[in-house]
Parts: sequence; C-alpha cells; structure tokens
Amino acid sequence: MMDFVLRGNIIYSEDKDRLSVTENGYAVCVGGVSKGVFETLPEEYAGLETVDCGGKLIVPGFVDLHVHAPQYGFRSVGMDCELLEWLNRHAFPEESKFSDAGYAAAAYKIFVDDLVSGFTSRACVFGTLHREATAVLAGLIEKSGLKAMVGKVNMDRNSPDYLREKSWRESLSRTEEYIDELKGFKNVRPIITPRFVPSCTDELMEGLKGIIEKTGLPVQSHLSENPEEIAWVKELCPDCPTYGDVYDKYGMLSASSIMAHCVHLTEREIMLLKDRGAFVAHCPESNMNLASGIAPVSRLLHEGINVGLGSDIAGGTTLSIPAAMTLAVQNSKIYWRYIDNKYPPLRLENVFYLATEGGGKFFGKAGSLKNGYEFDALVLDDSNIKTTVDFSVRERLERLIYLGGRSNIVSKYVSGVKIF
Ligand code: GUN
Ligand code: FE
Repeated sequence: MMDFVLRGNIIYSEDKDRLSVTENGYAVCVGGVSKGVFETLPEEYAGLETVDCGGKLIVPGFVDLHVHAPQYGFRSVGMDCELLEWLNRHAFPEESKFSDAGYAAAAYKIFVDDLVSGFTSRACVFGTLHREATAVLAGLIEKSGLKAMVGKVNMDRNSPDYLREKSWRESLSRTEEYIDELKGFKNVRPIITPRFVPSCTDELMEGLKGIIEKTGLPVQSHLSENPEEIAWVKELCPDCPTYGDVYDKYGMLSASSIMAHCVHLTEREIMLLKDRGAFVAHCPESNMNLASGIAPVSRLLHEGINVGLGSDIAGGTTLSIPAAMTLAVQNSKIYWRYIDNKYPPLRLENVFYLATEGGGKFFGKAGSLKNGYEFDALVLDDSNIKTTVDFSVRERLERLIYLGGRSNIVSKYVSGVKIF
C-alpha cells in the first residue's frame, strides 16, 4: 500500500521552533511520498483509500541518529563507569562475541525486533568490526522495512587484542567487502564508521578518506564526548588544534557526516561543524550515564548546526526517542541554570524537531509530513494514559512523549510501507 490517506490529528515541525497541528486533517501518501497535510481532502485524492484514525495523533516517524546495535544485550549494566572504563569493561568484551555470526544473528534479532516495534523509523547504526556479523545486522534491518545506515566499525589500535583489526589494510579491505555485500539493498546503506580517533591509526583514517571520496558514502563517529577521551586525543594527535580537526583532516566533517555527542566543543569545533554542515547526534541519556556532561544543544541549534537525537545504546539504556526528547529538555534546563544562560532551554517544539526533521535531514527528505517528504508516520493512541482533563492536541503530544511507550503505537509507516 503506497497510495493512501491517513485521517486524524496530524502534527509535524514547521521549523525548529514551530509545530504544524491539523486537527481532523488528511495526510496524503502517493508512491511512498507525502503530498502534504490538508484540512479538507483535495478532489484529486478523493479516490484513495482513507484510513480513519479517529482522534489519534499522527506524527512523522522518529529518527535515531546514533545507536550501537551489538551493545543492546547489556544495556543498563555498567552504568557506574565513565566512558573509557565502560568501553574496556563492558562494550569491548561483548562486541568481541560478534566474531560468531550465530551469536550475532540471535542478538541482532532481539535488537531489530525492538527497533521495529518502537518509535524509530530510521536509524544510523554501529555494528562491530566484524564484516559477517554486521552484514547479518544489515540484512535483518533490510527485511524489517525500516530505513537505516549501518556501519562496520573500523578499529586498528588502542583496543584489546581480542577486538582489534590486525592491520589498517585488513580493516580497509573488510570495509570494501562489506560495502559490496550491501549492493542491491533498498532500505539499508553502508556508512563508514571509524569508532573514534583513539582506535584508528593515521593510515586507516587516510584509507577511509579514500573510500569516502571514491564512494560518496556517509560517515559516523564520536566527537568530544568525555574529558578523558579528549585529553587522550590531544596526546595522540599533537599536530591538530582540536579533536574535530582530526576528522576534518580526513574529510570526515561534511553534510554526510554524523558526530555523536559533541559535549565539550571548543569555539573552533563549533565553527568547523557549522562550516562543514556536519550533523551532531545529541545523546542526553548516554551523556549522563557515562558522566560525559551536557551538550550545548540550544547553542548548536541557534548557530544553525544540524542536530538530531541518538539513543546511543548502550551508553543509553533505551531505544525510545521520546525518552531522549524528554531528557534533552531536562538537561537543557540544567545547562541553562548551571552552565550558561545565554540560550534558553529546549522546548517541546525544539525536541520534536530534533527527533523528526532534524535527524531526518541526514536521510534526505525525511522526518516530516510536508509535501515531498518520504512518508514515515506513526499513529499514536493516548487513550490508555487516563485523565479527566481535556487537553489540546499539542498537550496530548507532550503527554505521549513524557508518558507513552510502545503500547501507544497503533501503526507505523516507512516510505509509505505499513510496518504494522
Ligand atoms: N566512543 C568510542 N566507542 C564508543 C561507544 O561504543 N559508545 C560511546 N558512547 N562512546 C564511544
Ligand atoms: Fe556511541
């Protein structure tokens, strides 16, 4: 079903500061693409099948710009560590198990099943350094109908023997094989995924730069997440003025790149992100759990930098993007109160934008129900969040974000395809 109409209370972001709310409106999907939202159904679409969602809310599908699929199994364990200790004690040992494709298939099925039944329509996903296991993950997402960019991780230094590629040459050739393996996929694209600067040699970064130039593929990594990590990068790369400059040197800051976290940015890094059009994946839960800090998201939005939200499983414990929205609002208030009151805290409008069009932009025209966008939609039923209060549609959206869960999702469409 690619041509149809959804009728209900429709919300999408007009821009980063404003919602568009159409009560009892019509969202039209033709060929998997939105034709826009209307108060009365235009004559030309009168013949299409109309799904009447009654008083339910209809919103664009949410986007998770940063998630580690292999870490899903141990989420919520090890939350008493900081980043580097957590990587060594929890993330690296678990990721090493994905050398076994059978283990990977079982673990990734659990991850993908939960991703499908949740709020996320599109995601940018880290696998592990293992080519075969990461192709299994890509295959499962491909079949699910969700859209994703999935990366085989590159790491050839400063990691334990049991989770380190033997050479930069091997890392590059496995990456090229993985890219070839995904040819013909419709829903999943490969994404170049150097884990972070500490785990990649200069030779590996130079080689990845070549692959990016040759293929035009996007890139994802981590930037300025935690003070210990930043100090380490300074030691490793004394010639670069900032952490961000290291990625920039290898062509990894562009409108096709996502940098997760960006908690402790220098003025120069903010300028670089803005100038290059790179995307920031804001991961508020992870930044608290790993004691990384609070990212200056209001400032970044004010500067016109591209920002979306990430769950950062398993630095974060939940795949729920509404949970990330809530925490982004709360953290921005703490930031405003204690760190810098120059930019106001985030509002509902701002985080709804981050969760939809803000992150969706990384996929092209996605994350909105405006005319011309890929038709990703969630139909949400809030009737089990009981109250005697008569709320506006905007207030109902806010309650759903703060109080809702999987049980509130009635149906999900991605590019016009009904997932459930
Ligand atoms: N930096 C390098 N690897 C990781 C990871 O797996 N999670 C987080 N949060 N940060 C990282
Ligand atoms: Fe991460």
